Amino acid sequence: MKINKSKLWALGASVLIIWSCSNSEEVIPDLNVPEDEEDTGEVVIPLKELFEDYFEIGAAVTPQQADLGTAHGQTLRKHFSSITAENVMKPDALQRVKGQYTWSSADQLVQFAKDNNMLVRGHCLTWHSQSPDWMFYDENGDLLSRELALAQLEEHITTVVTRYKDDVYAWDVVNEAMFDWDPAGVIEYREDSPWYQMIGETYIDSAFVYARRADPNAKLFYNDYNSIFSWKRNKIYNMVKRLKDNNIPIDGIGLQGHWMVNTSEADIRTTLDLFRSLDVEIQITELDIPVYLSSDEPGATVYNDTFSFRQKMAYTMIFDVLLDYSDIITNVTFWGIGDDHTWLDQPGRKAFPFLLDEELNPKPVYFEVQKLVQNR
Ligand code: XIL
Repeated sequence: MKINKSKLWALGASVLIIWSCSNSEEVIPDLNVPEDEEDTGEVVIPLKELFEDYFEIGAAVTPQQADLGTAHGQTLRKHFSSITAENVMKPDALQRVKGQYTWSSADQLVQFAKDNNMLVRGHCLTWHSQSPDWMFYDENGDLLSRELALAQLEEHITTVVTRYKDDVYAWDVVNEAMFDWDPAGVIEYREDSPWYQMIGETYIDSAFVYARRADPNAKLFYNDYNSIFSWKRNKIYNMVKRLKDNNIPIDGIGLQGHWMVNTSEADIRTTLDLFRSLDVEIQITELDIPVYLSSDEPGATVYNDTFSFRQKMAYTMIFDVLLDYSDIITNVTFWGIGDDHTWLDQPGRKAFPFLLDEELNPKPVYFEVQKLVQNR
């Protein structure tokens, strides 16, 4: 909590009232100093309250951050109703060595969520990246047979989903399976994925079936990035349509939301309209908006007014759209908490992608988003 002038004044006034009326039984001291008031005098409405009529608000976290003894833990409890493990539930974190599971970090996140009344999104069960080599290759470095690969995938998914059956409410069952950067839209699947090479595209189907068997109640998601570009959204649409037509248990599509300050509103709306027609839930699973217009723009390490302006435009546009689709959007998760920790930072080039700054205080863009929601 920041102590500013108005808080000090309110505190002083309260003490004075208690002191001057200390003999009276009727006085109820007013110690309700507003908890969250910025120097500007603007009251901060925690994100989860701001959006409570619309969707859950989440953050990706590390085990170190999920600790109430830290500023990150306090910020999580205050602002967020959902957490995702940034790394520690990925295949290479949970089962780096075949048959030897390492649960402690993931368990810690789940316990933190339980203690603080938060949901957990599970990320992720099937991915070509951050997965151990034994899932893909034998001791000679050759790809595994289809049968062995599927058996190992089933074992992994069953063990992980069963362990967190009552605790993880939504799983990214398959992550990033569609081919990218293909404006012609010719190649559907990411063919360089070992999963695809061992099994073909039906590894996606199998993963969803295994997850559903292990937990009939969890929400099962397909999760990807660049989903709002026409060539990729159509591939995702076709793939999910194929799953649904084949009665494969899929509940939703996760849009990662690694968007840009100049992301097109029309692209987001068109994508949400298209996915709506599939009768699935939508979650924005990894939202972050770096301050740069392109990768060519020189990097900076200090946040400036231009960055702030861009983020105000982008974030208000984005949340305006997301609110318009809140009947199908059930969770919006940022891929981090505040600007101090993000996977997008590079030496000499900070991304500043969130609504909270490096000290975890609301940025000006936070208040623009807050105003937008309040005025709807
Ligand atoms: C990123 C993490 O944030 C990094 O810490 C890690 O080094 C690489 O992975 N899409 C995803 C996430 O689905 O799992 C990725 O997370 C970001 C892109």
